[in-house]
Amino acid sequence: MPNRMFSSVLPYFCSGPVCRGFGRGSKDLGCPTANFDYRVIEALPSELDCGIYYGFASVEGFEGVHKAVLSIGWNPYYKNDKKSVETHILHDFGTDFYGRAMKLVMLGHIRPERDFPSLEALIEEIQNDIRVAGEKLDLGEFQSFRTHPFFTEDGKGNS
Ligand SMILES: Cc1cc2nc3c(=O)[nH]c(=O)nc-3n(C[C@H](O)[C@H](O)[C@H](O)COP(=O)(O)O)c2cc1C
Repeated sequence: MPNRMFSSVLPYFCSGPVCRGFGRGSKDLGCPTANFDYRVIEALPSELDCGIYYGFASVEGFEGVHKAVLSIGWNPYYKNDKKSVETHILHDFGTDFYGRAMKLVMLGHIRPERDFPSLEALIEEIQNDIRVAGEKLDLGEFQSFRTHPFFTEDGKGNS
């Protein structure tokens, strides 16, 4: 059943260059994340609450539209002082892609961001988010987004 709280802003399309995050993504968490820069973050609608979302993403210069799971917010476990949008794409690109344009459509909300008693607990929850996103994105209602013109045209989405 669609989550009514987010139905007014989702699907949300955005795109921008991938910039360097805090560098913890793959090292501490075994989960590489691609960070959008401030332009995408500042353009987010106020109705789009911080939290964990799923959707589809593509990266300039690479084939395909892939499942993705992302975190919007302040990373309470790390107590960041800057809001970030960090996307984990469920695909092995085999390389970094800093500076490339990433396109993302957010389709659903999984949970709010949380603090955790340990790094292990955070990692376990992120693994669960990846599993949930993988399952949700197999649903028939989302399949048309894989081939949405947003991914093939020059458009930048809502932002
Ligand atoms: C699917 C997903 C869920 C996340 N959930 C949380 C969370 O609940 N709390 C939190 O503090 N950080 C959360 N994060 C953020 C991670 O802590 C963050 O990606 C990590 O610190 C890497 O950041 P960096 O790439 O900027 O170094 C999540 C990240 C992803 C991809």
